[in-house]
Amino acid sequence: MSKSDKIYVAGHRGMVGSAIVRELKNQNYENIITRTHSELDLTNQQQVQEFFYQEKPSQVYLAAAKVGGIFANDNYPAEFIYQNLMIESNVIHAAFKSGVKKLLFLGSSCIYPKLANQPMREEALLSGYLEPTNEPYAIAKIAGIKLCESYNRQYSDSHDVDYRSVMPTNLYGPGDNYHPENSHVIPALIRRFHEAKINNKEKVIVWGTGKPKREFLFVDDMASASVYVMNLNKETYDQSTNEMCSHINVGIGKDMSIGELAKTLKKVIGFGGEIEFDSSKPDGSPRKLMDSSRLNILGWNPRVDLERGLTLTYENYLQNIMSQ
Ligand SMILES: NC(=O)c1ccc[n+]([C@@H]2O[C@H](COP(=O)([O-])OP(=O)(O)OC[C@H]3O[C@@H](n4cnc5c(N)ncnc54)[C@H](OP(=O)(O)O)[C@@H]3O)[C@@H](O)[C@H]2O)c1
Repeated sequence: MSKSDKIYVAGHRGMVGSAIVRELKNQNYENIITRTHSELDLTNQQQVQEFFYQEKPSQVYLAAAKVGGIFANDNYPAEFIYQNLMIESNVIHAAFKSGVKKLLFLGSSCIYPKLANQPMREEALLSGYLEPTNEPYAIAKIAGIKLCESYNRQYSDSHDVDYRSVMPTNLYGPGDNYHPENSHVIPALIRRFHEAKINNKEKVIVWGTGKPKREFLFVDDMASASVYVMNLNKETYDQSTNEMCSHINVGIGKDMSIGELAKTLKKVIGFGGEIEFDSSKPDGSPRKLMDSSRLNILGWNPRVDLERGLTLTYENYLQNIMSQ
C-alpha cells in the first residue's frame, strides 16, 4: 500500500469516520475520498455501484452506519436493521465488483450475547441470545462480519480480496452525538453535567444505580487501531484469526462503573453539585468488557487514558456549542 493509493472512508462525517480521516492524514495518506450522506446514499445500490465503478478506490474503511443509543434502537428497530444491512451489502459487494482488495468493516461489541462470559472474546460470537433492545442492529453487524468472511472464503484465492472486521467497545470523543434521545452514556452525561453547571443546578441525575460496569475507548485510539489492523500483513492477520472468526476486538481491556464515570466527568467539567442515581431507571447488563488480547498480541495498544480523553471531548463539546 502506497501513501498515494486511493482510500475511501465511508461515514467520514461521523465520530469514527472523521477520526479515521484524521489518523490517515496524520500518517500522510494523500488520496482520501469521501462522500456525504446527501451526495451518496449508501442504502441505494445503484448509486453505490456507480460510485465504486467511477472512483475505483484501493482500500475502504466502512464506518458509515445508522447508529444510536438504547432509546433509538428500541423505538426504530426496522430502520436499524434495514439501513445497516443495506449499507453493508451495497458497499461490500460494490467494493468487490469494482476490484477493491482491502476493506475494513466497523462493527460493535453488541454483536456478543447478552450473557457472554466476561471479558468477551471474539469466539463468543453466535454462542447465545443477544440483548433484545439492540438485537436488530446487532444482527446487521453480525451480517457485516459474515459478508466479509464469505467474500474472503469465496474470493481470496481467485481475486485476492482481504476484508477484515474490527469490533470497537464503547467509543467517545470529538464528533460525538449529543442528541437528548439518541446519545450514548458519555455524551449524554457531558451535556447533562455541562447544563447543570451553567444553570447552577444543585444535582445531576444519572439513570440507574451507577453500578453497571462499562469499557470506554477514545475514538482517536479506535482510528489508530483501524489503520493498524487494515495494514497488518495478511499472514500475520490470518495467523491470529480464522476464516469463520475473523473479527478483532478493540478496547482498552479494563472497565469502570457508571458511578465512577460520572465522578470523573463531574471533575473534568467542573460541576460543583451532587450526583444522584435514579435506580427506578434500567441498568442494562451488569458488565460489558471486551477481551482485546488478540489485538494487543498483534502489537497495538491504546494511548489515551479516560481522564485525558474526556477532557479533550469536553473541549470539543464547548467549541461546538460556541460555534452554533
Ligand atoms: N460510537 C460508538 O460508541 C461506537 C461503538 C462501537 C462501534 N461503533 C461503530 O462505528 C461505526 C461508526 O459509528 P459512529 O459513532 O461514527 O456513528 P455516527 O457518528 O452516527 O456516524 C455514522 C456516519 O454514517 C453516515 N451514514 C449513515 N447512514 C448513511 C447512508 N445511508 N448513506 C451514507 N452515509 C450514511 C452518517 O451520515 P449522516 O449523519 O449524514 O446520516 C454518519 O456520518 C458504526 O459502524 C458503529 O457501529 C461505534
